[in-house]
Amino acid sequence: MIITKKGISLCKRIYRFSSVESTMKIASSLAKEGAPEGTVIIAEEQTKGKGRAGHYWFSPKGGLYLSVILRPLFSSSYLSKLSLMGAIGIVKSIREIAPSLPSKIRWPNDAVIEKRKIGGVLLEARRENNKVCFVIMGIGVNLNIEEFPFPLSLTATSLKKELGHSISLKDFLLTLFEKLEDLYSSFQKDFPSFLEEIYLFSSLMGEQVKLRNENEELNGQVQGIDEEGNLILRLESGLQKRISPEKGFIVNEFSNRRW
Ligand code: BTN
Repeated sequence: MIITKKGISLCKRIYRFSSVESTMKIASSLAKEGAPEGTVIIAEEQTKGKGRAGHYWFSPKGGLYLSVILRPLFSSSYLSKLSLMGAIGIVKSIREIAPSLPSKIRWPNDAVIEKRKIGGVLLEARRENNKVCFVIMGIGVNLNIEEFPFPLSLTATSLKKELGHSISLKDFLLTLFEKLEDLYSSFQKDFPSFLEEIYLFSSLMGEQVKLRNENEELNGQVQGIDEEGNLILRLESGLQKRISPEKGFIVNEFSNRRW
């Protein structure tokens, strides 16, 4: 069990594996069998790592791959915001462990360094009668990965590549859970207070983006994130549109701004 400074634990029991298809699959079976909140599945590598929107997640040895079982008390309308919470957790951990790196959140679930993806969050929820039975939060962070295959090499990076040295997985894990526990307890009380942190850490404010929203592709300028976690986009037509974090997917950012 990892007990953080606050004495609470989202990491009550850890199952460690050297190689699995996906930690999501194992977490889901354990959750269905009644495993409590704070059960964590962590693997050194995944052979079928899952990303958002049916993408795969490159998962060789050297990365951090985990799924944590959550049993939140809030209604299912809050679920989509949990991926923002996970992304903030990753970004805050990177900022603490590697303060020289300008890590940011790319709505809704990415952690990026100068537009290159370094971590991501995948949520899978089981609902019954509009009640959330459990949520699996999957977190992947490119810690000590040295090389990425093409074309991922164009869009991804790792802490090791950025820093030029390895990072202790244990230290990162401890920091991550400390951040997640803080965020999770305040999240359950008050989502709007999150918006400040999201604004502070977001890479997209004012950016010109292309995004996919279900079956449509949209171009526009990011104006903000609202209290529901939706991205506020000003379309080329001048109209404003709000995109749900469950449905939206950033395809491209166009500014040349460097952080
Ligand atoms: C994304 O950005 O597309 C989400 C990536 C989530 C990857 C993690 S790695 C641990 C867990 N197991 C998986 O198969 N996926 C998530």
